[in-house]
Amino acid sequence: MKNNKKIVLVGTGLVGMSFAYSLVVQGNVDELVLIDLNKEKAIGEAMDLQHAGCFAKKQIRMKAGDYADCKGADIVVITAGIIQRSDQTRLDLTVDNTKIVQSVTEQIMASGFDGILIVATNPVDLMTAVAQKVSNLPTNRVIGTGTLLDTARLRFRLSECLQVSPYNIHAYVFGEHGDSSFVPWSHACIGSKTIRNVLKSRKIDEDMLEEVFDEVRNAGYEIVNRKKSTYYGIGMTLNRLVQAVLNDENSILTVSAKQNGEYGYTGIYNGVPAIIGAKGVIEKLELELEPAEQQRFLDSCRLLEKIWTETVN
Ligand code: LAC
Repeated sequence: MKNNKKIVLVGTGLVGMSFAYSLVVQGNVDELVLIDLNKEKAIGEAMDLQHAGCFAKKQIRMKAGDYADCKGADIVVITAGIIQRSDQTRLDLTVDNTKIVQSVTEQIMASGFDGILIVATNPVDLMTAVAQKVSNLPTNRVIGTGTLLDTARLRFRLSECLQVSPYNIHAYVFGEHGDSSFVPWSHACIGSKTIRNVLKSRKIDEDMLEEVFDEVRNAGYEIVNRKKSTYYGIGMTLNRLVQAVLNDENSILTVSAKQNGEYGYTGIYNGVPAIIGAKGVIEKLELELEPAEQQRFLDSCRLLEKIWTETVN
């Protein structure tokens, strides 16, 4: 990673700007370029951020730009797209957002961009696959936010229920960032003790786990029903993923990654724990899933593949 850390954001809606604002507060990038179909919006957002930057611990060079600015960027983040209404699932956005992500990715690549592409546009697993297909970048350098937000929501809820810091709750949400996601509880731990043994020693019924995960899986809908869209959670999710790349952390994050047979399936992008560093997806962490867990992952992949075949491909 070179000294000047440059990020380009495509889409200055609430998700994109929540992410951008978090970068200004955190202050560990050098350059941030905002691109939007609505150029005046991007200019206004850049101006507003520049003024916020006056109070930040580090000055970031920020501007509204165009796709030529993607050349030489370390990371381009795609948040452009329509958002789901309260009567829709994320998968209902596939047709419209495929067109947007295709167009955006074509313009990014026309600049000569050769860095890491991070996608948050929903349905994120399919949109990440679209971005990879159009960009033709190596699959390890096209990453979706996947179930990273779901995993954070899970750890938050379990920490509330079990009164343990979320930092000591090791549990992953697998699969689609959506209704077919699941948690392989056989690999969930509190510290180094399995969560099932923690519940046993606390005499808590295991049913609690799926009850908690139901809340997690529906959290996006619950928020959309109340405030029309989510943006702080996904904005910080993007920040977390960008930091892992910029700082070459080799951190394990549940991202949407191309499936190359690690769980008995090769094909569509889907949410799995992966080691993330400067080169993007370094390695997918292959867990030994129980047969029922393996089946749930395959079911999720096949659902996404069906929609890909019927709608995108
Ligand atoms: C959510 C959106 C990002 O789950 O899908 O908040």
